[in-house]
Amino acid sequence: MRGTRRVARHRGAGRWNAGAHGNGPGWTSFLSLMPLLLIAGLALPSAADAQDVENGQRLYERWCAECHGAEGEGDGPAASRMLPRPRDFTEARYQIRTTASGNLPTTGDIMRAIEHGLPGTTMPGWPNLNRSQQRDLTAYLKSLSPFFERLGPPDSLSFESPPGGGEEALESGRQVYTKLECDRCHGSAGRGDGPSAPTLTDWRDQPVRAADLTQPWLFNGGSSVEEIHRRFLTGLDGTPMPTQADALNAGVVDSAQLWDLAYYVRSLAPERVPPPGRNVVRVERIADDEELPAGPGADAWDDVDRYWFPMAGQVLERPRQFEPMVDGVWVEGVHDGSEIALRVSWNDPSQSPDSAWMQWQRRVAGALYADGTPWPTDSLPDRLAVQFPTEIPEGRERPYFLMGSAQKPVYLWRWNSRDGIRESTATGLGTAGPLPESRLQGQATWSAGQWSVVFRRSLEGEGQRISLESGVAVPVAFYAWDGNNAETGKRAAVSSWYFVVLEVPTGNEVYVAPAAVVLLVAGFGVFMVRSARQGETGGGAGDDGSGA
Ligand code: HEC
Ligand code: HEC
Repeated sequence: MRGTRRVARHRGAGRWNAGAHGNGPGWTSFLSLMPLLLIAGLALPSAADAQDVENGQRLYERWCAECHGAEGEGDGPAASRMLPRPRDFTEARYQIRTTASGNLPTTGDIMRAIEHGLPGTTMPGWPNLNRSQQRDLTAYLKSLSPFFERLGPPDSLSFESPPGGGEEALESGRQVYTKLECDRCHGSAGRGDGPSAPTLTDWRDQPVRAADLTQPWLFNGGSSVEEIHRRFLTGLDGTPMPTQADALNAGVVDSAQLWDLAYYVRSLAPERVPPPGRNVVRVERIADDEELPAGPGADAWDDVDRYWFPMAGQVLERPRQFEPMVDGVWVEGVHDGSEIALRVSWNDPSQSPDSAWMQWQRRVAGALYADGTPWPTDSLPDRLAVQFPTEIPEGRERPYFLMGSAQKPVYLWRWNSRDGIRESTATGLGTAGPLPESRLQGQATWSAGQWSVVFRRSLEGEGQRISLESGVAVPVAFYAWDGNNAETGKRAAVSSWYFVVLEVPTGNEVYVAPAAVVLLVAGFGVFMVRSARQGETGGGAGDDGSGA
């Protein structure tokens, strides 16, 4: 049987945390339960187990080997384009567990990862596989490491149920956050911009982001207070995220405070996560006696509806970007009948070009661009582009979403942290060129891991500058680049097409997106996800991607 063979020539055995795997209670109960199967200290799998493992192996080769590698070492053909890298199962180092740090996961833990995936990474969930298939896969994964046989089933920690939270808990949690130095990695507002963040690497020495705590839908282990609290007790083995069990045992914090911390972390994000997907930005008409907000910090924005648009790496054209830093943008808009102000905000832990993040940039480039494409090693600015067609399209026709084509160009509002704001047109990715005499104004600020840019322009356009009319759905799409994440040119985070609609002057009409529009956008999302999932197996030198 293959699994057994692999156990015999396993390389990493005993290298990791051997002490933590000592004679725990799991070992003892294993002995008492299965004495007949013990030969020289090792349990032989029963006939049924062997069948499970074989079946699991077949499923594995079909669905998992592309990423996790033929031998389970995390080095499949698609792996070199991913951060974090796929798990190496021969190491038995699992991240999302119900067991103490340094311990093996339970069978249920592994099955949970297979069922739900690890959000925020390329590891998808596999709800399409039934329970028995998931169980067989789990049996196979366990057969890839000798630890499971040697140590027997681990003990789950016992978890209390959440005490309820409330204002006081949040205030206490905020203090615990500083006391336990969470901000060192996650930053003061939790956006992953702490001073240690650019230096963090996982156990394979690959760069790892300090999670953005304001986007818990991307947490590997789930976004609920209960799940967050569990991660404190179990740690995320293989990452720099420390378990708080030591602080608890040493009396630095008590268990109530650890719950307060979990409530506080959850409070850093909106109540509904992920934010509801919407297709249309409603640009509110301000009252006649009000003024359009001049900058990103203006109080007027507080009352304006925010819209969230998720973004994914540009993986259709070379050089591709599989692991962009920016996961999405928040968009708000207001107009006064003659001018529009659009505020776009997004989380980016570095104010590029930031010399403190140069080591991160080099590591990411080294990890992801080892295929002969040029590494961006110089200091790069952060960028954003808001994309429109050059004119309001008839029916469903829109330019190609990746910056248009020669037949159908796009019109862009561009900003970069070095040169400020420009108006451009483009006829494809990497072709953007400025329009003369920019009519676009704006301002940008960066604070605690978040950029906010306000664009202002008159509603009336000219030539390739689209005119914006009240009540008309105008297609819009977004691009973002994090310079210190080695993103430049075609290596960007992109959204699909959405729409902006200016409220008509009476201010009370509610615009309803036609069903066709909704379907189009939804269909496109699926397409993007599929393209992203397909990954890329080929190498080859791409273009240098300068331009956009
Ligand atoms: C598209 C790539 C991809 C595919 C396909 C894939 N995985 Fe993964 N998997 C990953 C990545 C990446 C990680 C590591 C994520 C991290 O470190 O946060 C991972 C992690 C895991 C983990 C570890 C969970 C933990 O808590 O540490 C398990 C278990 C797993 N995968 C099982 C599977 C199984 C079973 C399949 C096939 C049914 C599969 N994966 C297919 C990319 C993939
Ligand atoms: C040394 C740096 C470091 C410190 C200190 C740190 N973290 Fe983390 N944390 C990380 C990293 C890195 C990750 C992401 C791991 C990954 O992507 O797999 C993470 C992930 C998380 C997650 C997401 C868990 C999940 O399911 O994906 C939460 C929540 C979190 N940290 C909260 C905290 C809190 C609260 C503190 C303080 C008690 C803290 N962290 C201290 C580095 C750190």
